[in-house]
Amino acid sequence: MPETAAQTLEWLSEEHLAERDRLKERLFELKRLRRAAIVAHNYQHDEVQEVADITGDSLALSQHCVQLDAPVIVFAGVDFMAESAAILNPEKTVLLPEIRADCPMSKMAAWEAVKAMKSQYPDAAVVAYVNCSAEVKAEADICCTSANAVKVVSALPHKRIVFVPDRNLGHYVQRFVPDKEIILWKGFCPTHQRFTIDDLLQSKREHPDALFVAHPECRPEVLVLADHVCSTSGMVSWCRQAPADEFIVGTESGMLYRLRQDNPAKRFYLPTVKLTCPTMKMTTLDKVVQSLELMQYQITVDEAIRVRAKRSLDRMLAITQEQPWAALAGY
Ligand code: 13P
Ligand code: SF4
Repeated sequence: MPETAAQTLEWLSEEHLAERDRLKERLFELKRLRRAAIVAHNYQHDEVQEVADITGDSLALSQHCVQLDAPVIVFAGVDFMAESAAILNPEKTVLLPEIRADCPMSKMAAWEAVKAMKSQYPDAAVVAYVNCSAEVKAEADICCTSANAVKVVSALPHKRIVFVPDRNLGHYVQRFVPDKEIILWKGFCPTHQRFTIDDLLQSKREHPDALFVAHPECRPEVLVLADHVCSTSGMVSWCRQAPADEFIVGTESGMLYRLRQDNPAKRFYLPTVKLTCPTMKMTTLDKVVQSLELMQYQITVDEAIRVRAKRSLDRMLAITQEQPWAALAGY
């Protein structure tokens, strides 16, 4: 048995590593047994991203789930992401390892309020950022993600857009479509909202040579100072090719794992520890194992809502896959 504090620490970390190996082994057995695929959002804990078959942003993961032939999908992310996978893949079993992992921004738009807004602006198209409930997707004309919001809004024939629920993303999109009027919902991401201009300026003072890359969920006054604004997966490709060795990363802390893996010679800094999404971090390796062990928590969507929500997601995917006319059919 360890006798000193240092020996105890060493013993504990060996125990932890051994437990991690045991969990990984069990996970691979269960994956084979259930014929399951593990998809993980870029914000997940390192240990979860490490065992995933694919990591990505909301758009990449939605697209990937449609192409998968595995009958079971374990979605390491938050509720609306697993729900999108279930909407697009009704024949598959979609599991969310931690049932309390929700997105507070998605709760900021109730479908009844979106419906009321729609009747207030009958000439407008309702664009729903995917960080919303299945019911809101069903009410919307089309969905978007942070990777394609500008493209989706630009492709629409409408001059007026009701954009739900993220006011910061909607405000950012407005820059690129000055001829359209974007009516903003009042929602926001509490995690990105906690990141202030003072945090950014402090980080810039500490890392004067670093470029600043930001997620469009950040506050507008933070976004105007960004060298580049993009989705989480967009950060991977942009930082890879950008002519710099150091980056301040204006998004959730989990993003740093993927960026560092991909660019071992570059340095990535989180401007503030406040950029940690509490619900994204609820999913741990043992919960992923447990979800396959117990086949929990199965995410399902009422069929009538699912069909209408799928139409909004399909329209978005068609635009993203360069088929705007297929997407707009039905307007
Ligand atoms: P991405 O689609 O860019 O991964 O963003 C999802 C999200 O929840 C950001 O907070
Ligand atoms: Fe929702 Fe923000 Fe967490 Fe993304 S980071 S899941 S938008 S609360």
